Amino acid sequence: MADANISTDLAGRVALVTGASSGLGWRFAQTLARAGAAVVAGGRRADRVEALAAELVAQGRRAAGCGLDVCDPASITAAVDFAERTYGPVDILINNAGVADANYAAKLSLETVDRVIDTNFRGVFLMSVEVARRLIDAGKPGGIVNISSSGAYHYAHKSAAALYSATKAGVSRLTETLAVEWAAFGINVNAIAPGFFRSEMSAGYLDRVGATVKQAFPRKRFGDPEFLDSTLLYLVSPDSHFVTGTCILVDDGQMPR
Ligand SMILES: NC(=O)c1ccc[n+]([C@@H]2O[C@H](COP(=O)([O-])OP(=O)(O)OC[C@H]3O[C@@H](n4cnc5c(N)ncnc54)[C@H](OP(=O)(O)O)[C@@H]3O)[C@@H](O)[C@H]2O)c1
Repeated sequence: MADANISTDLAGRVALVTGASSGLGWRFAQTLARAGAAVVAGGRRADRVEALAAELVAQGRRAAGCGLDVCDPASITAAVDFAERTYGPVDILINNAGVADANYAAKLSLETVDRVIDTNFRGVFLMSVEVARRLIDAGKPGGIVNISSSGAYHYAHKSAAALYSATKAGVSRLTETLAVEWAAFGINVNAIAPGFFRSEMSAGYLDRVGATVKQAFPRKRFGDPEFLDSTLLYLVSPDSHFVTGTCILVDDGQMPR
């Protein structure tokens, strides 16, 4: 059989990962850098993304940290400018930054409502447009991967994440609409919808009720961030150029269909 047509060599690519200061984003930045991309790790905790970048540089990778607040349009522009100045035009964007609501809808403060929508939905839209506009102007192709959630597709009455789940449904739909709008420009837009994974966001919840929640899952386990490596690399591989507008649910069968 001829060799399969799949390369995960990202040499020459420039990746920007939002929310890389912890959890899944930390791992996405590592995975892309190890595949050869120059990576800009963004997050509000600049010390954390700079520490991650230093760790990668010490391993011989190309990486830089950059303070980034996806709720602030000026910060978005500054981060994309920084990436461009440091490594060249961003052609891989991982829209990973996200926050939970972690409460029932009727109990959310207006501040939380705005923060969840601004981070999880508006931030994804503004980041995508900032990167895509520059690619379109330069006539260059690129790839965007949005981090949605299994919560976009499944909701149970005690999930206490009604707003979060709706913003993630928005992310999945935005993935489809932007993919179609930008297909002619060579920009692919896809998403990953993780199930329950260990991270800072989920730590409190898993500590409180993780043992019980796990019992309801067919394989009685949570995900570790590295379980998403293969899906991420598949979506950003140059050989996945025909794959756009899709959202891959990676949840170990945790949720009913
Ligand atoms: N863990 C799970 O089970 C799970 C399941 C489905 C989907 N997800 C999604 O996966 C993504 C990563 O979450 P995680 O589980 O890895 O949680 P996490 O460890 O809490 O990571 C969230 C990241 O988002 C960043 N962030 C939050 N607000 C931001 C802002 N305004 N600007 C820039 N960065 C911001 C945080 O960094 P700073 O605080 O430094 O800004 C942090 O690095 C999220 O979109 C989440 O919804 C997670």
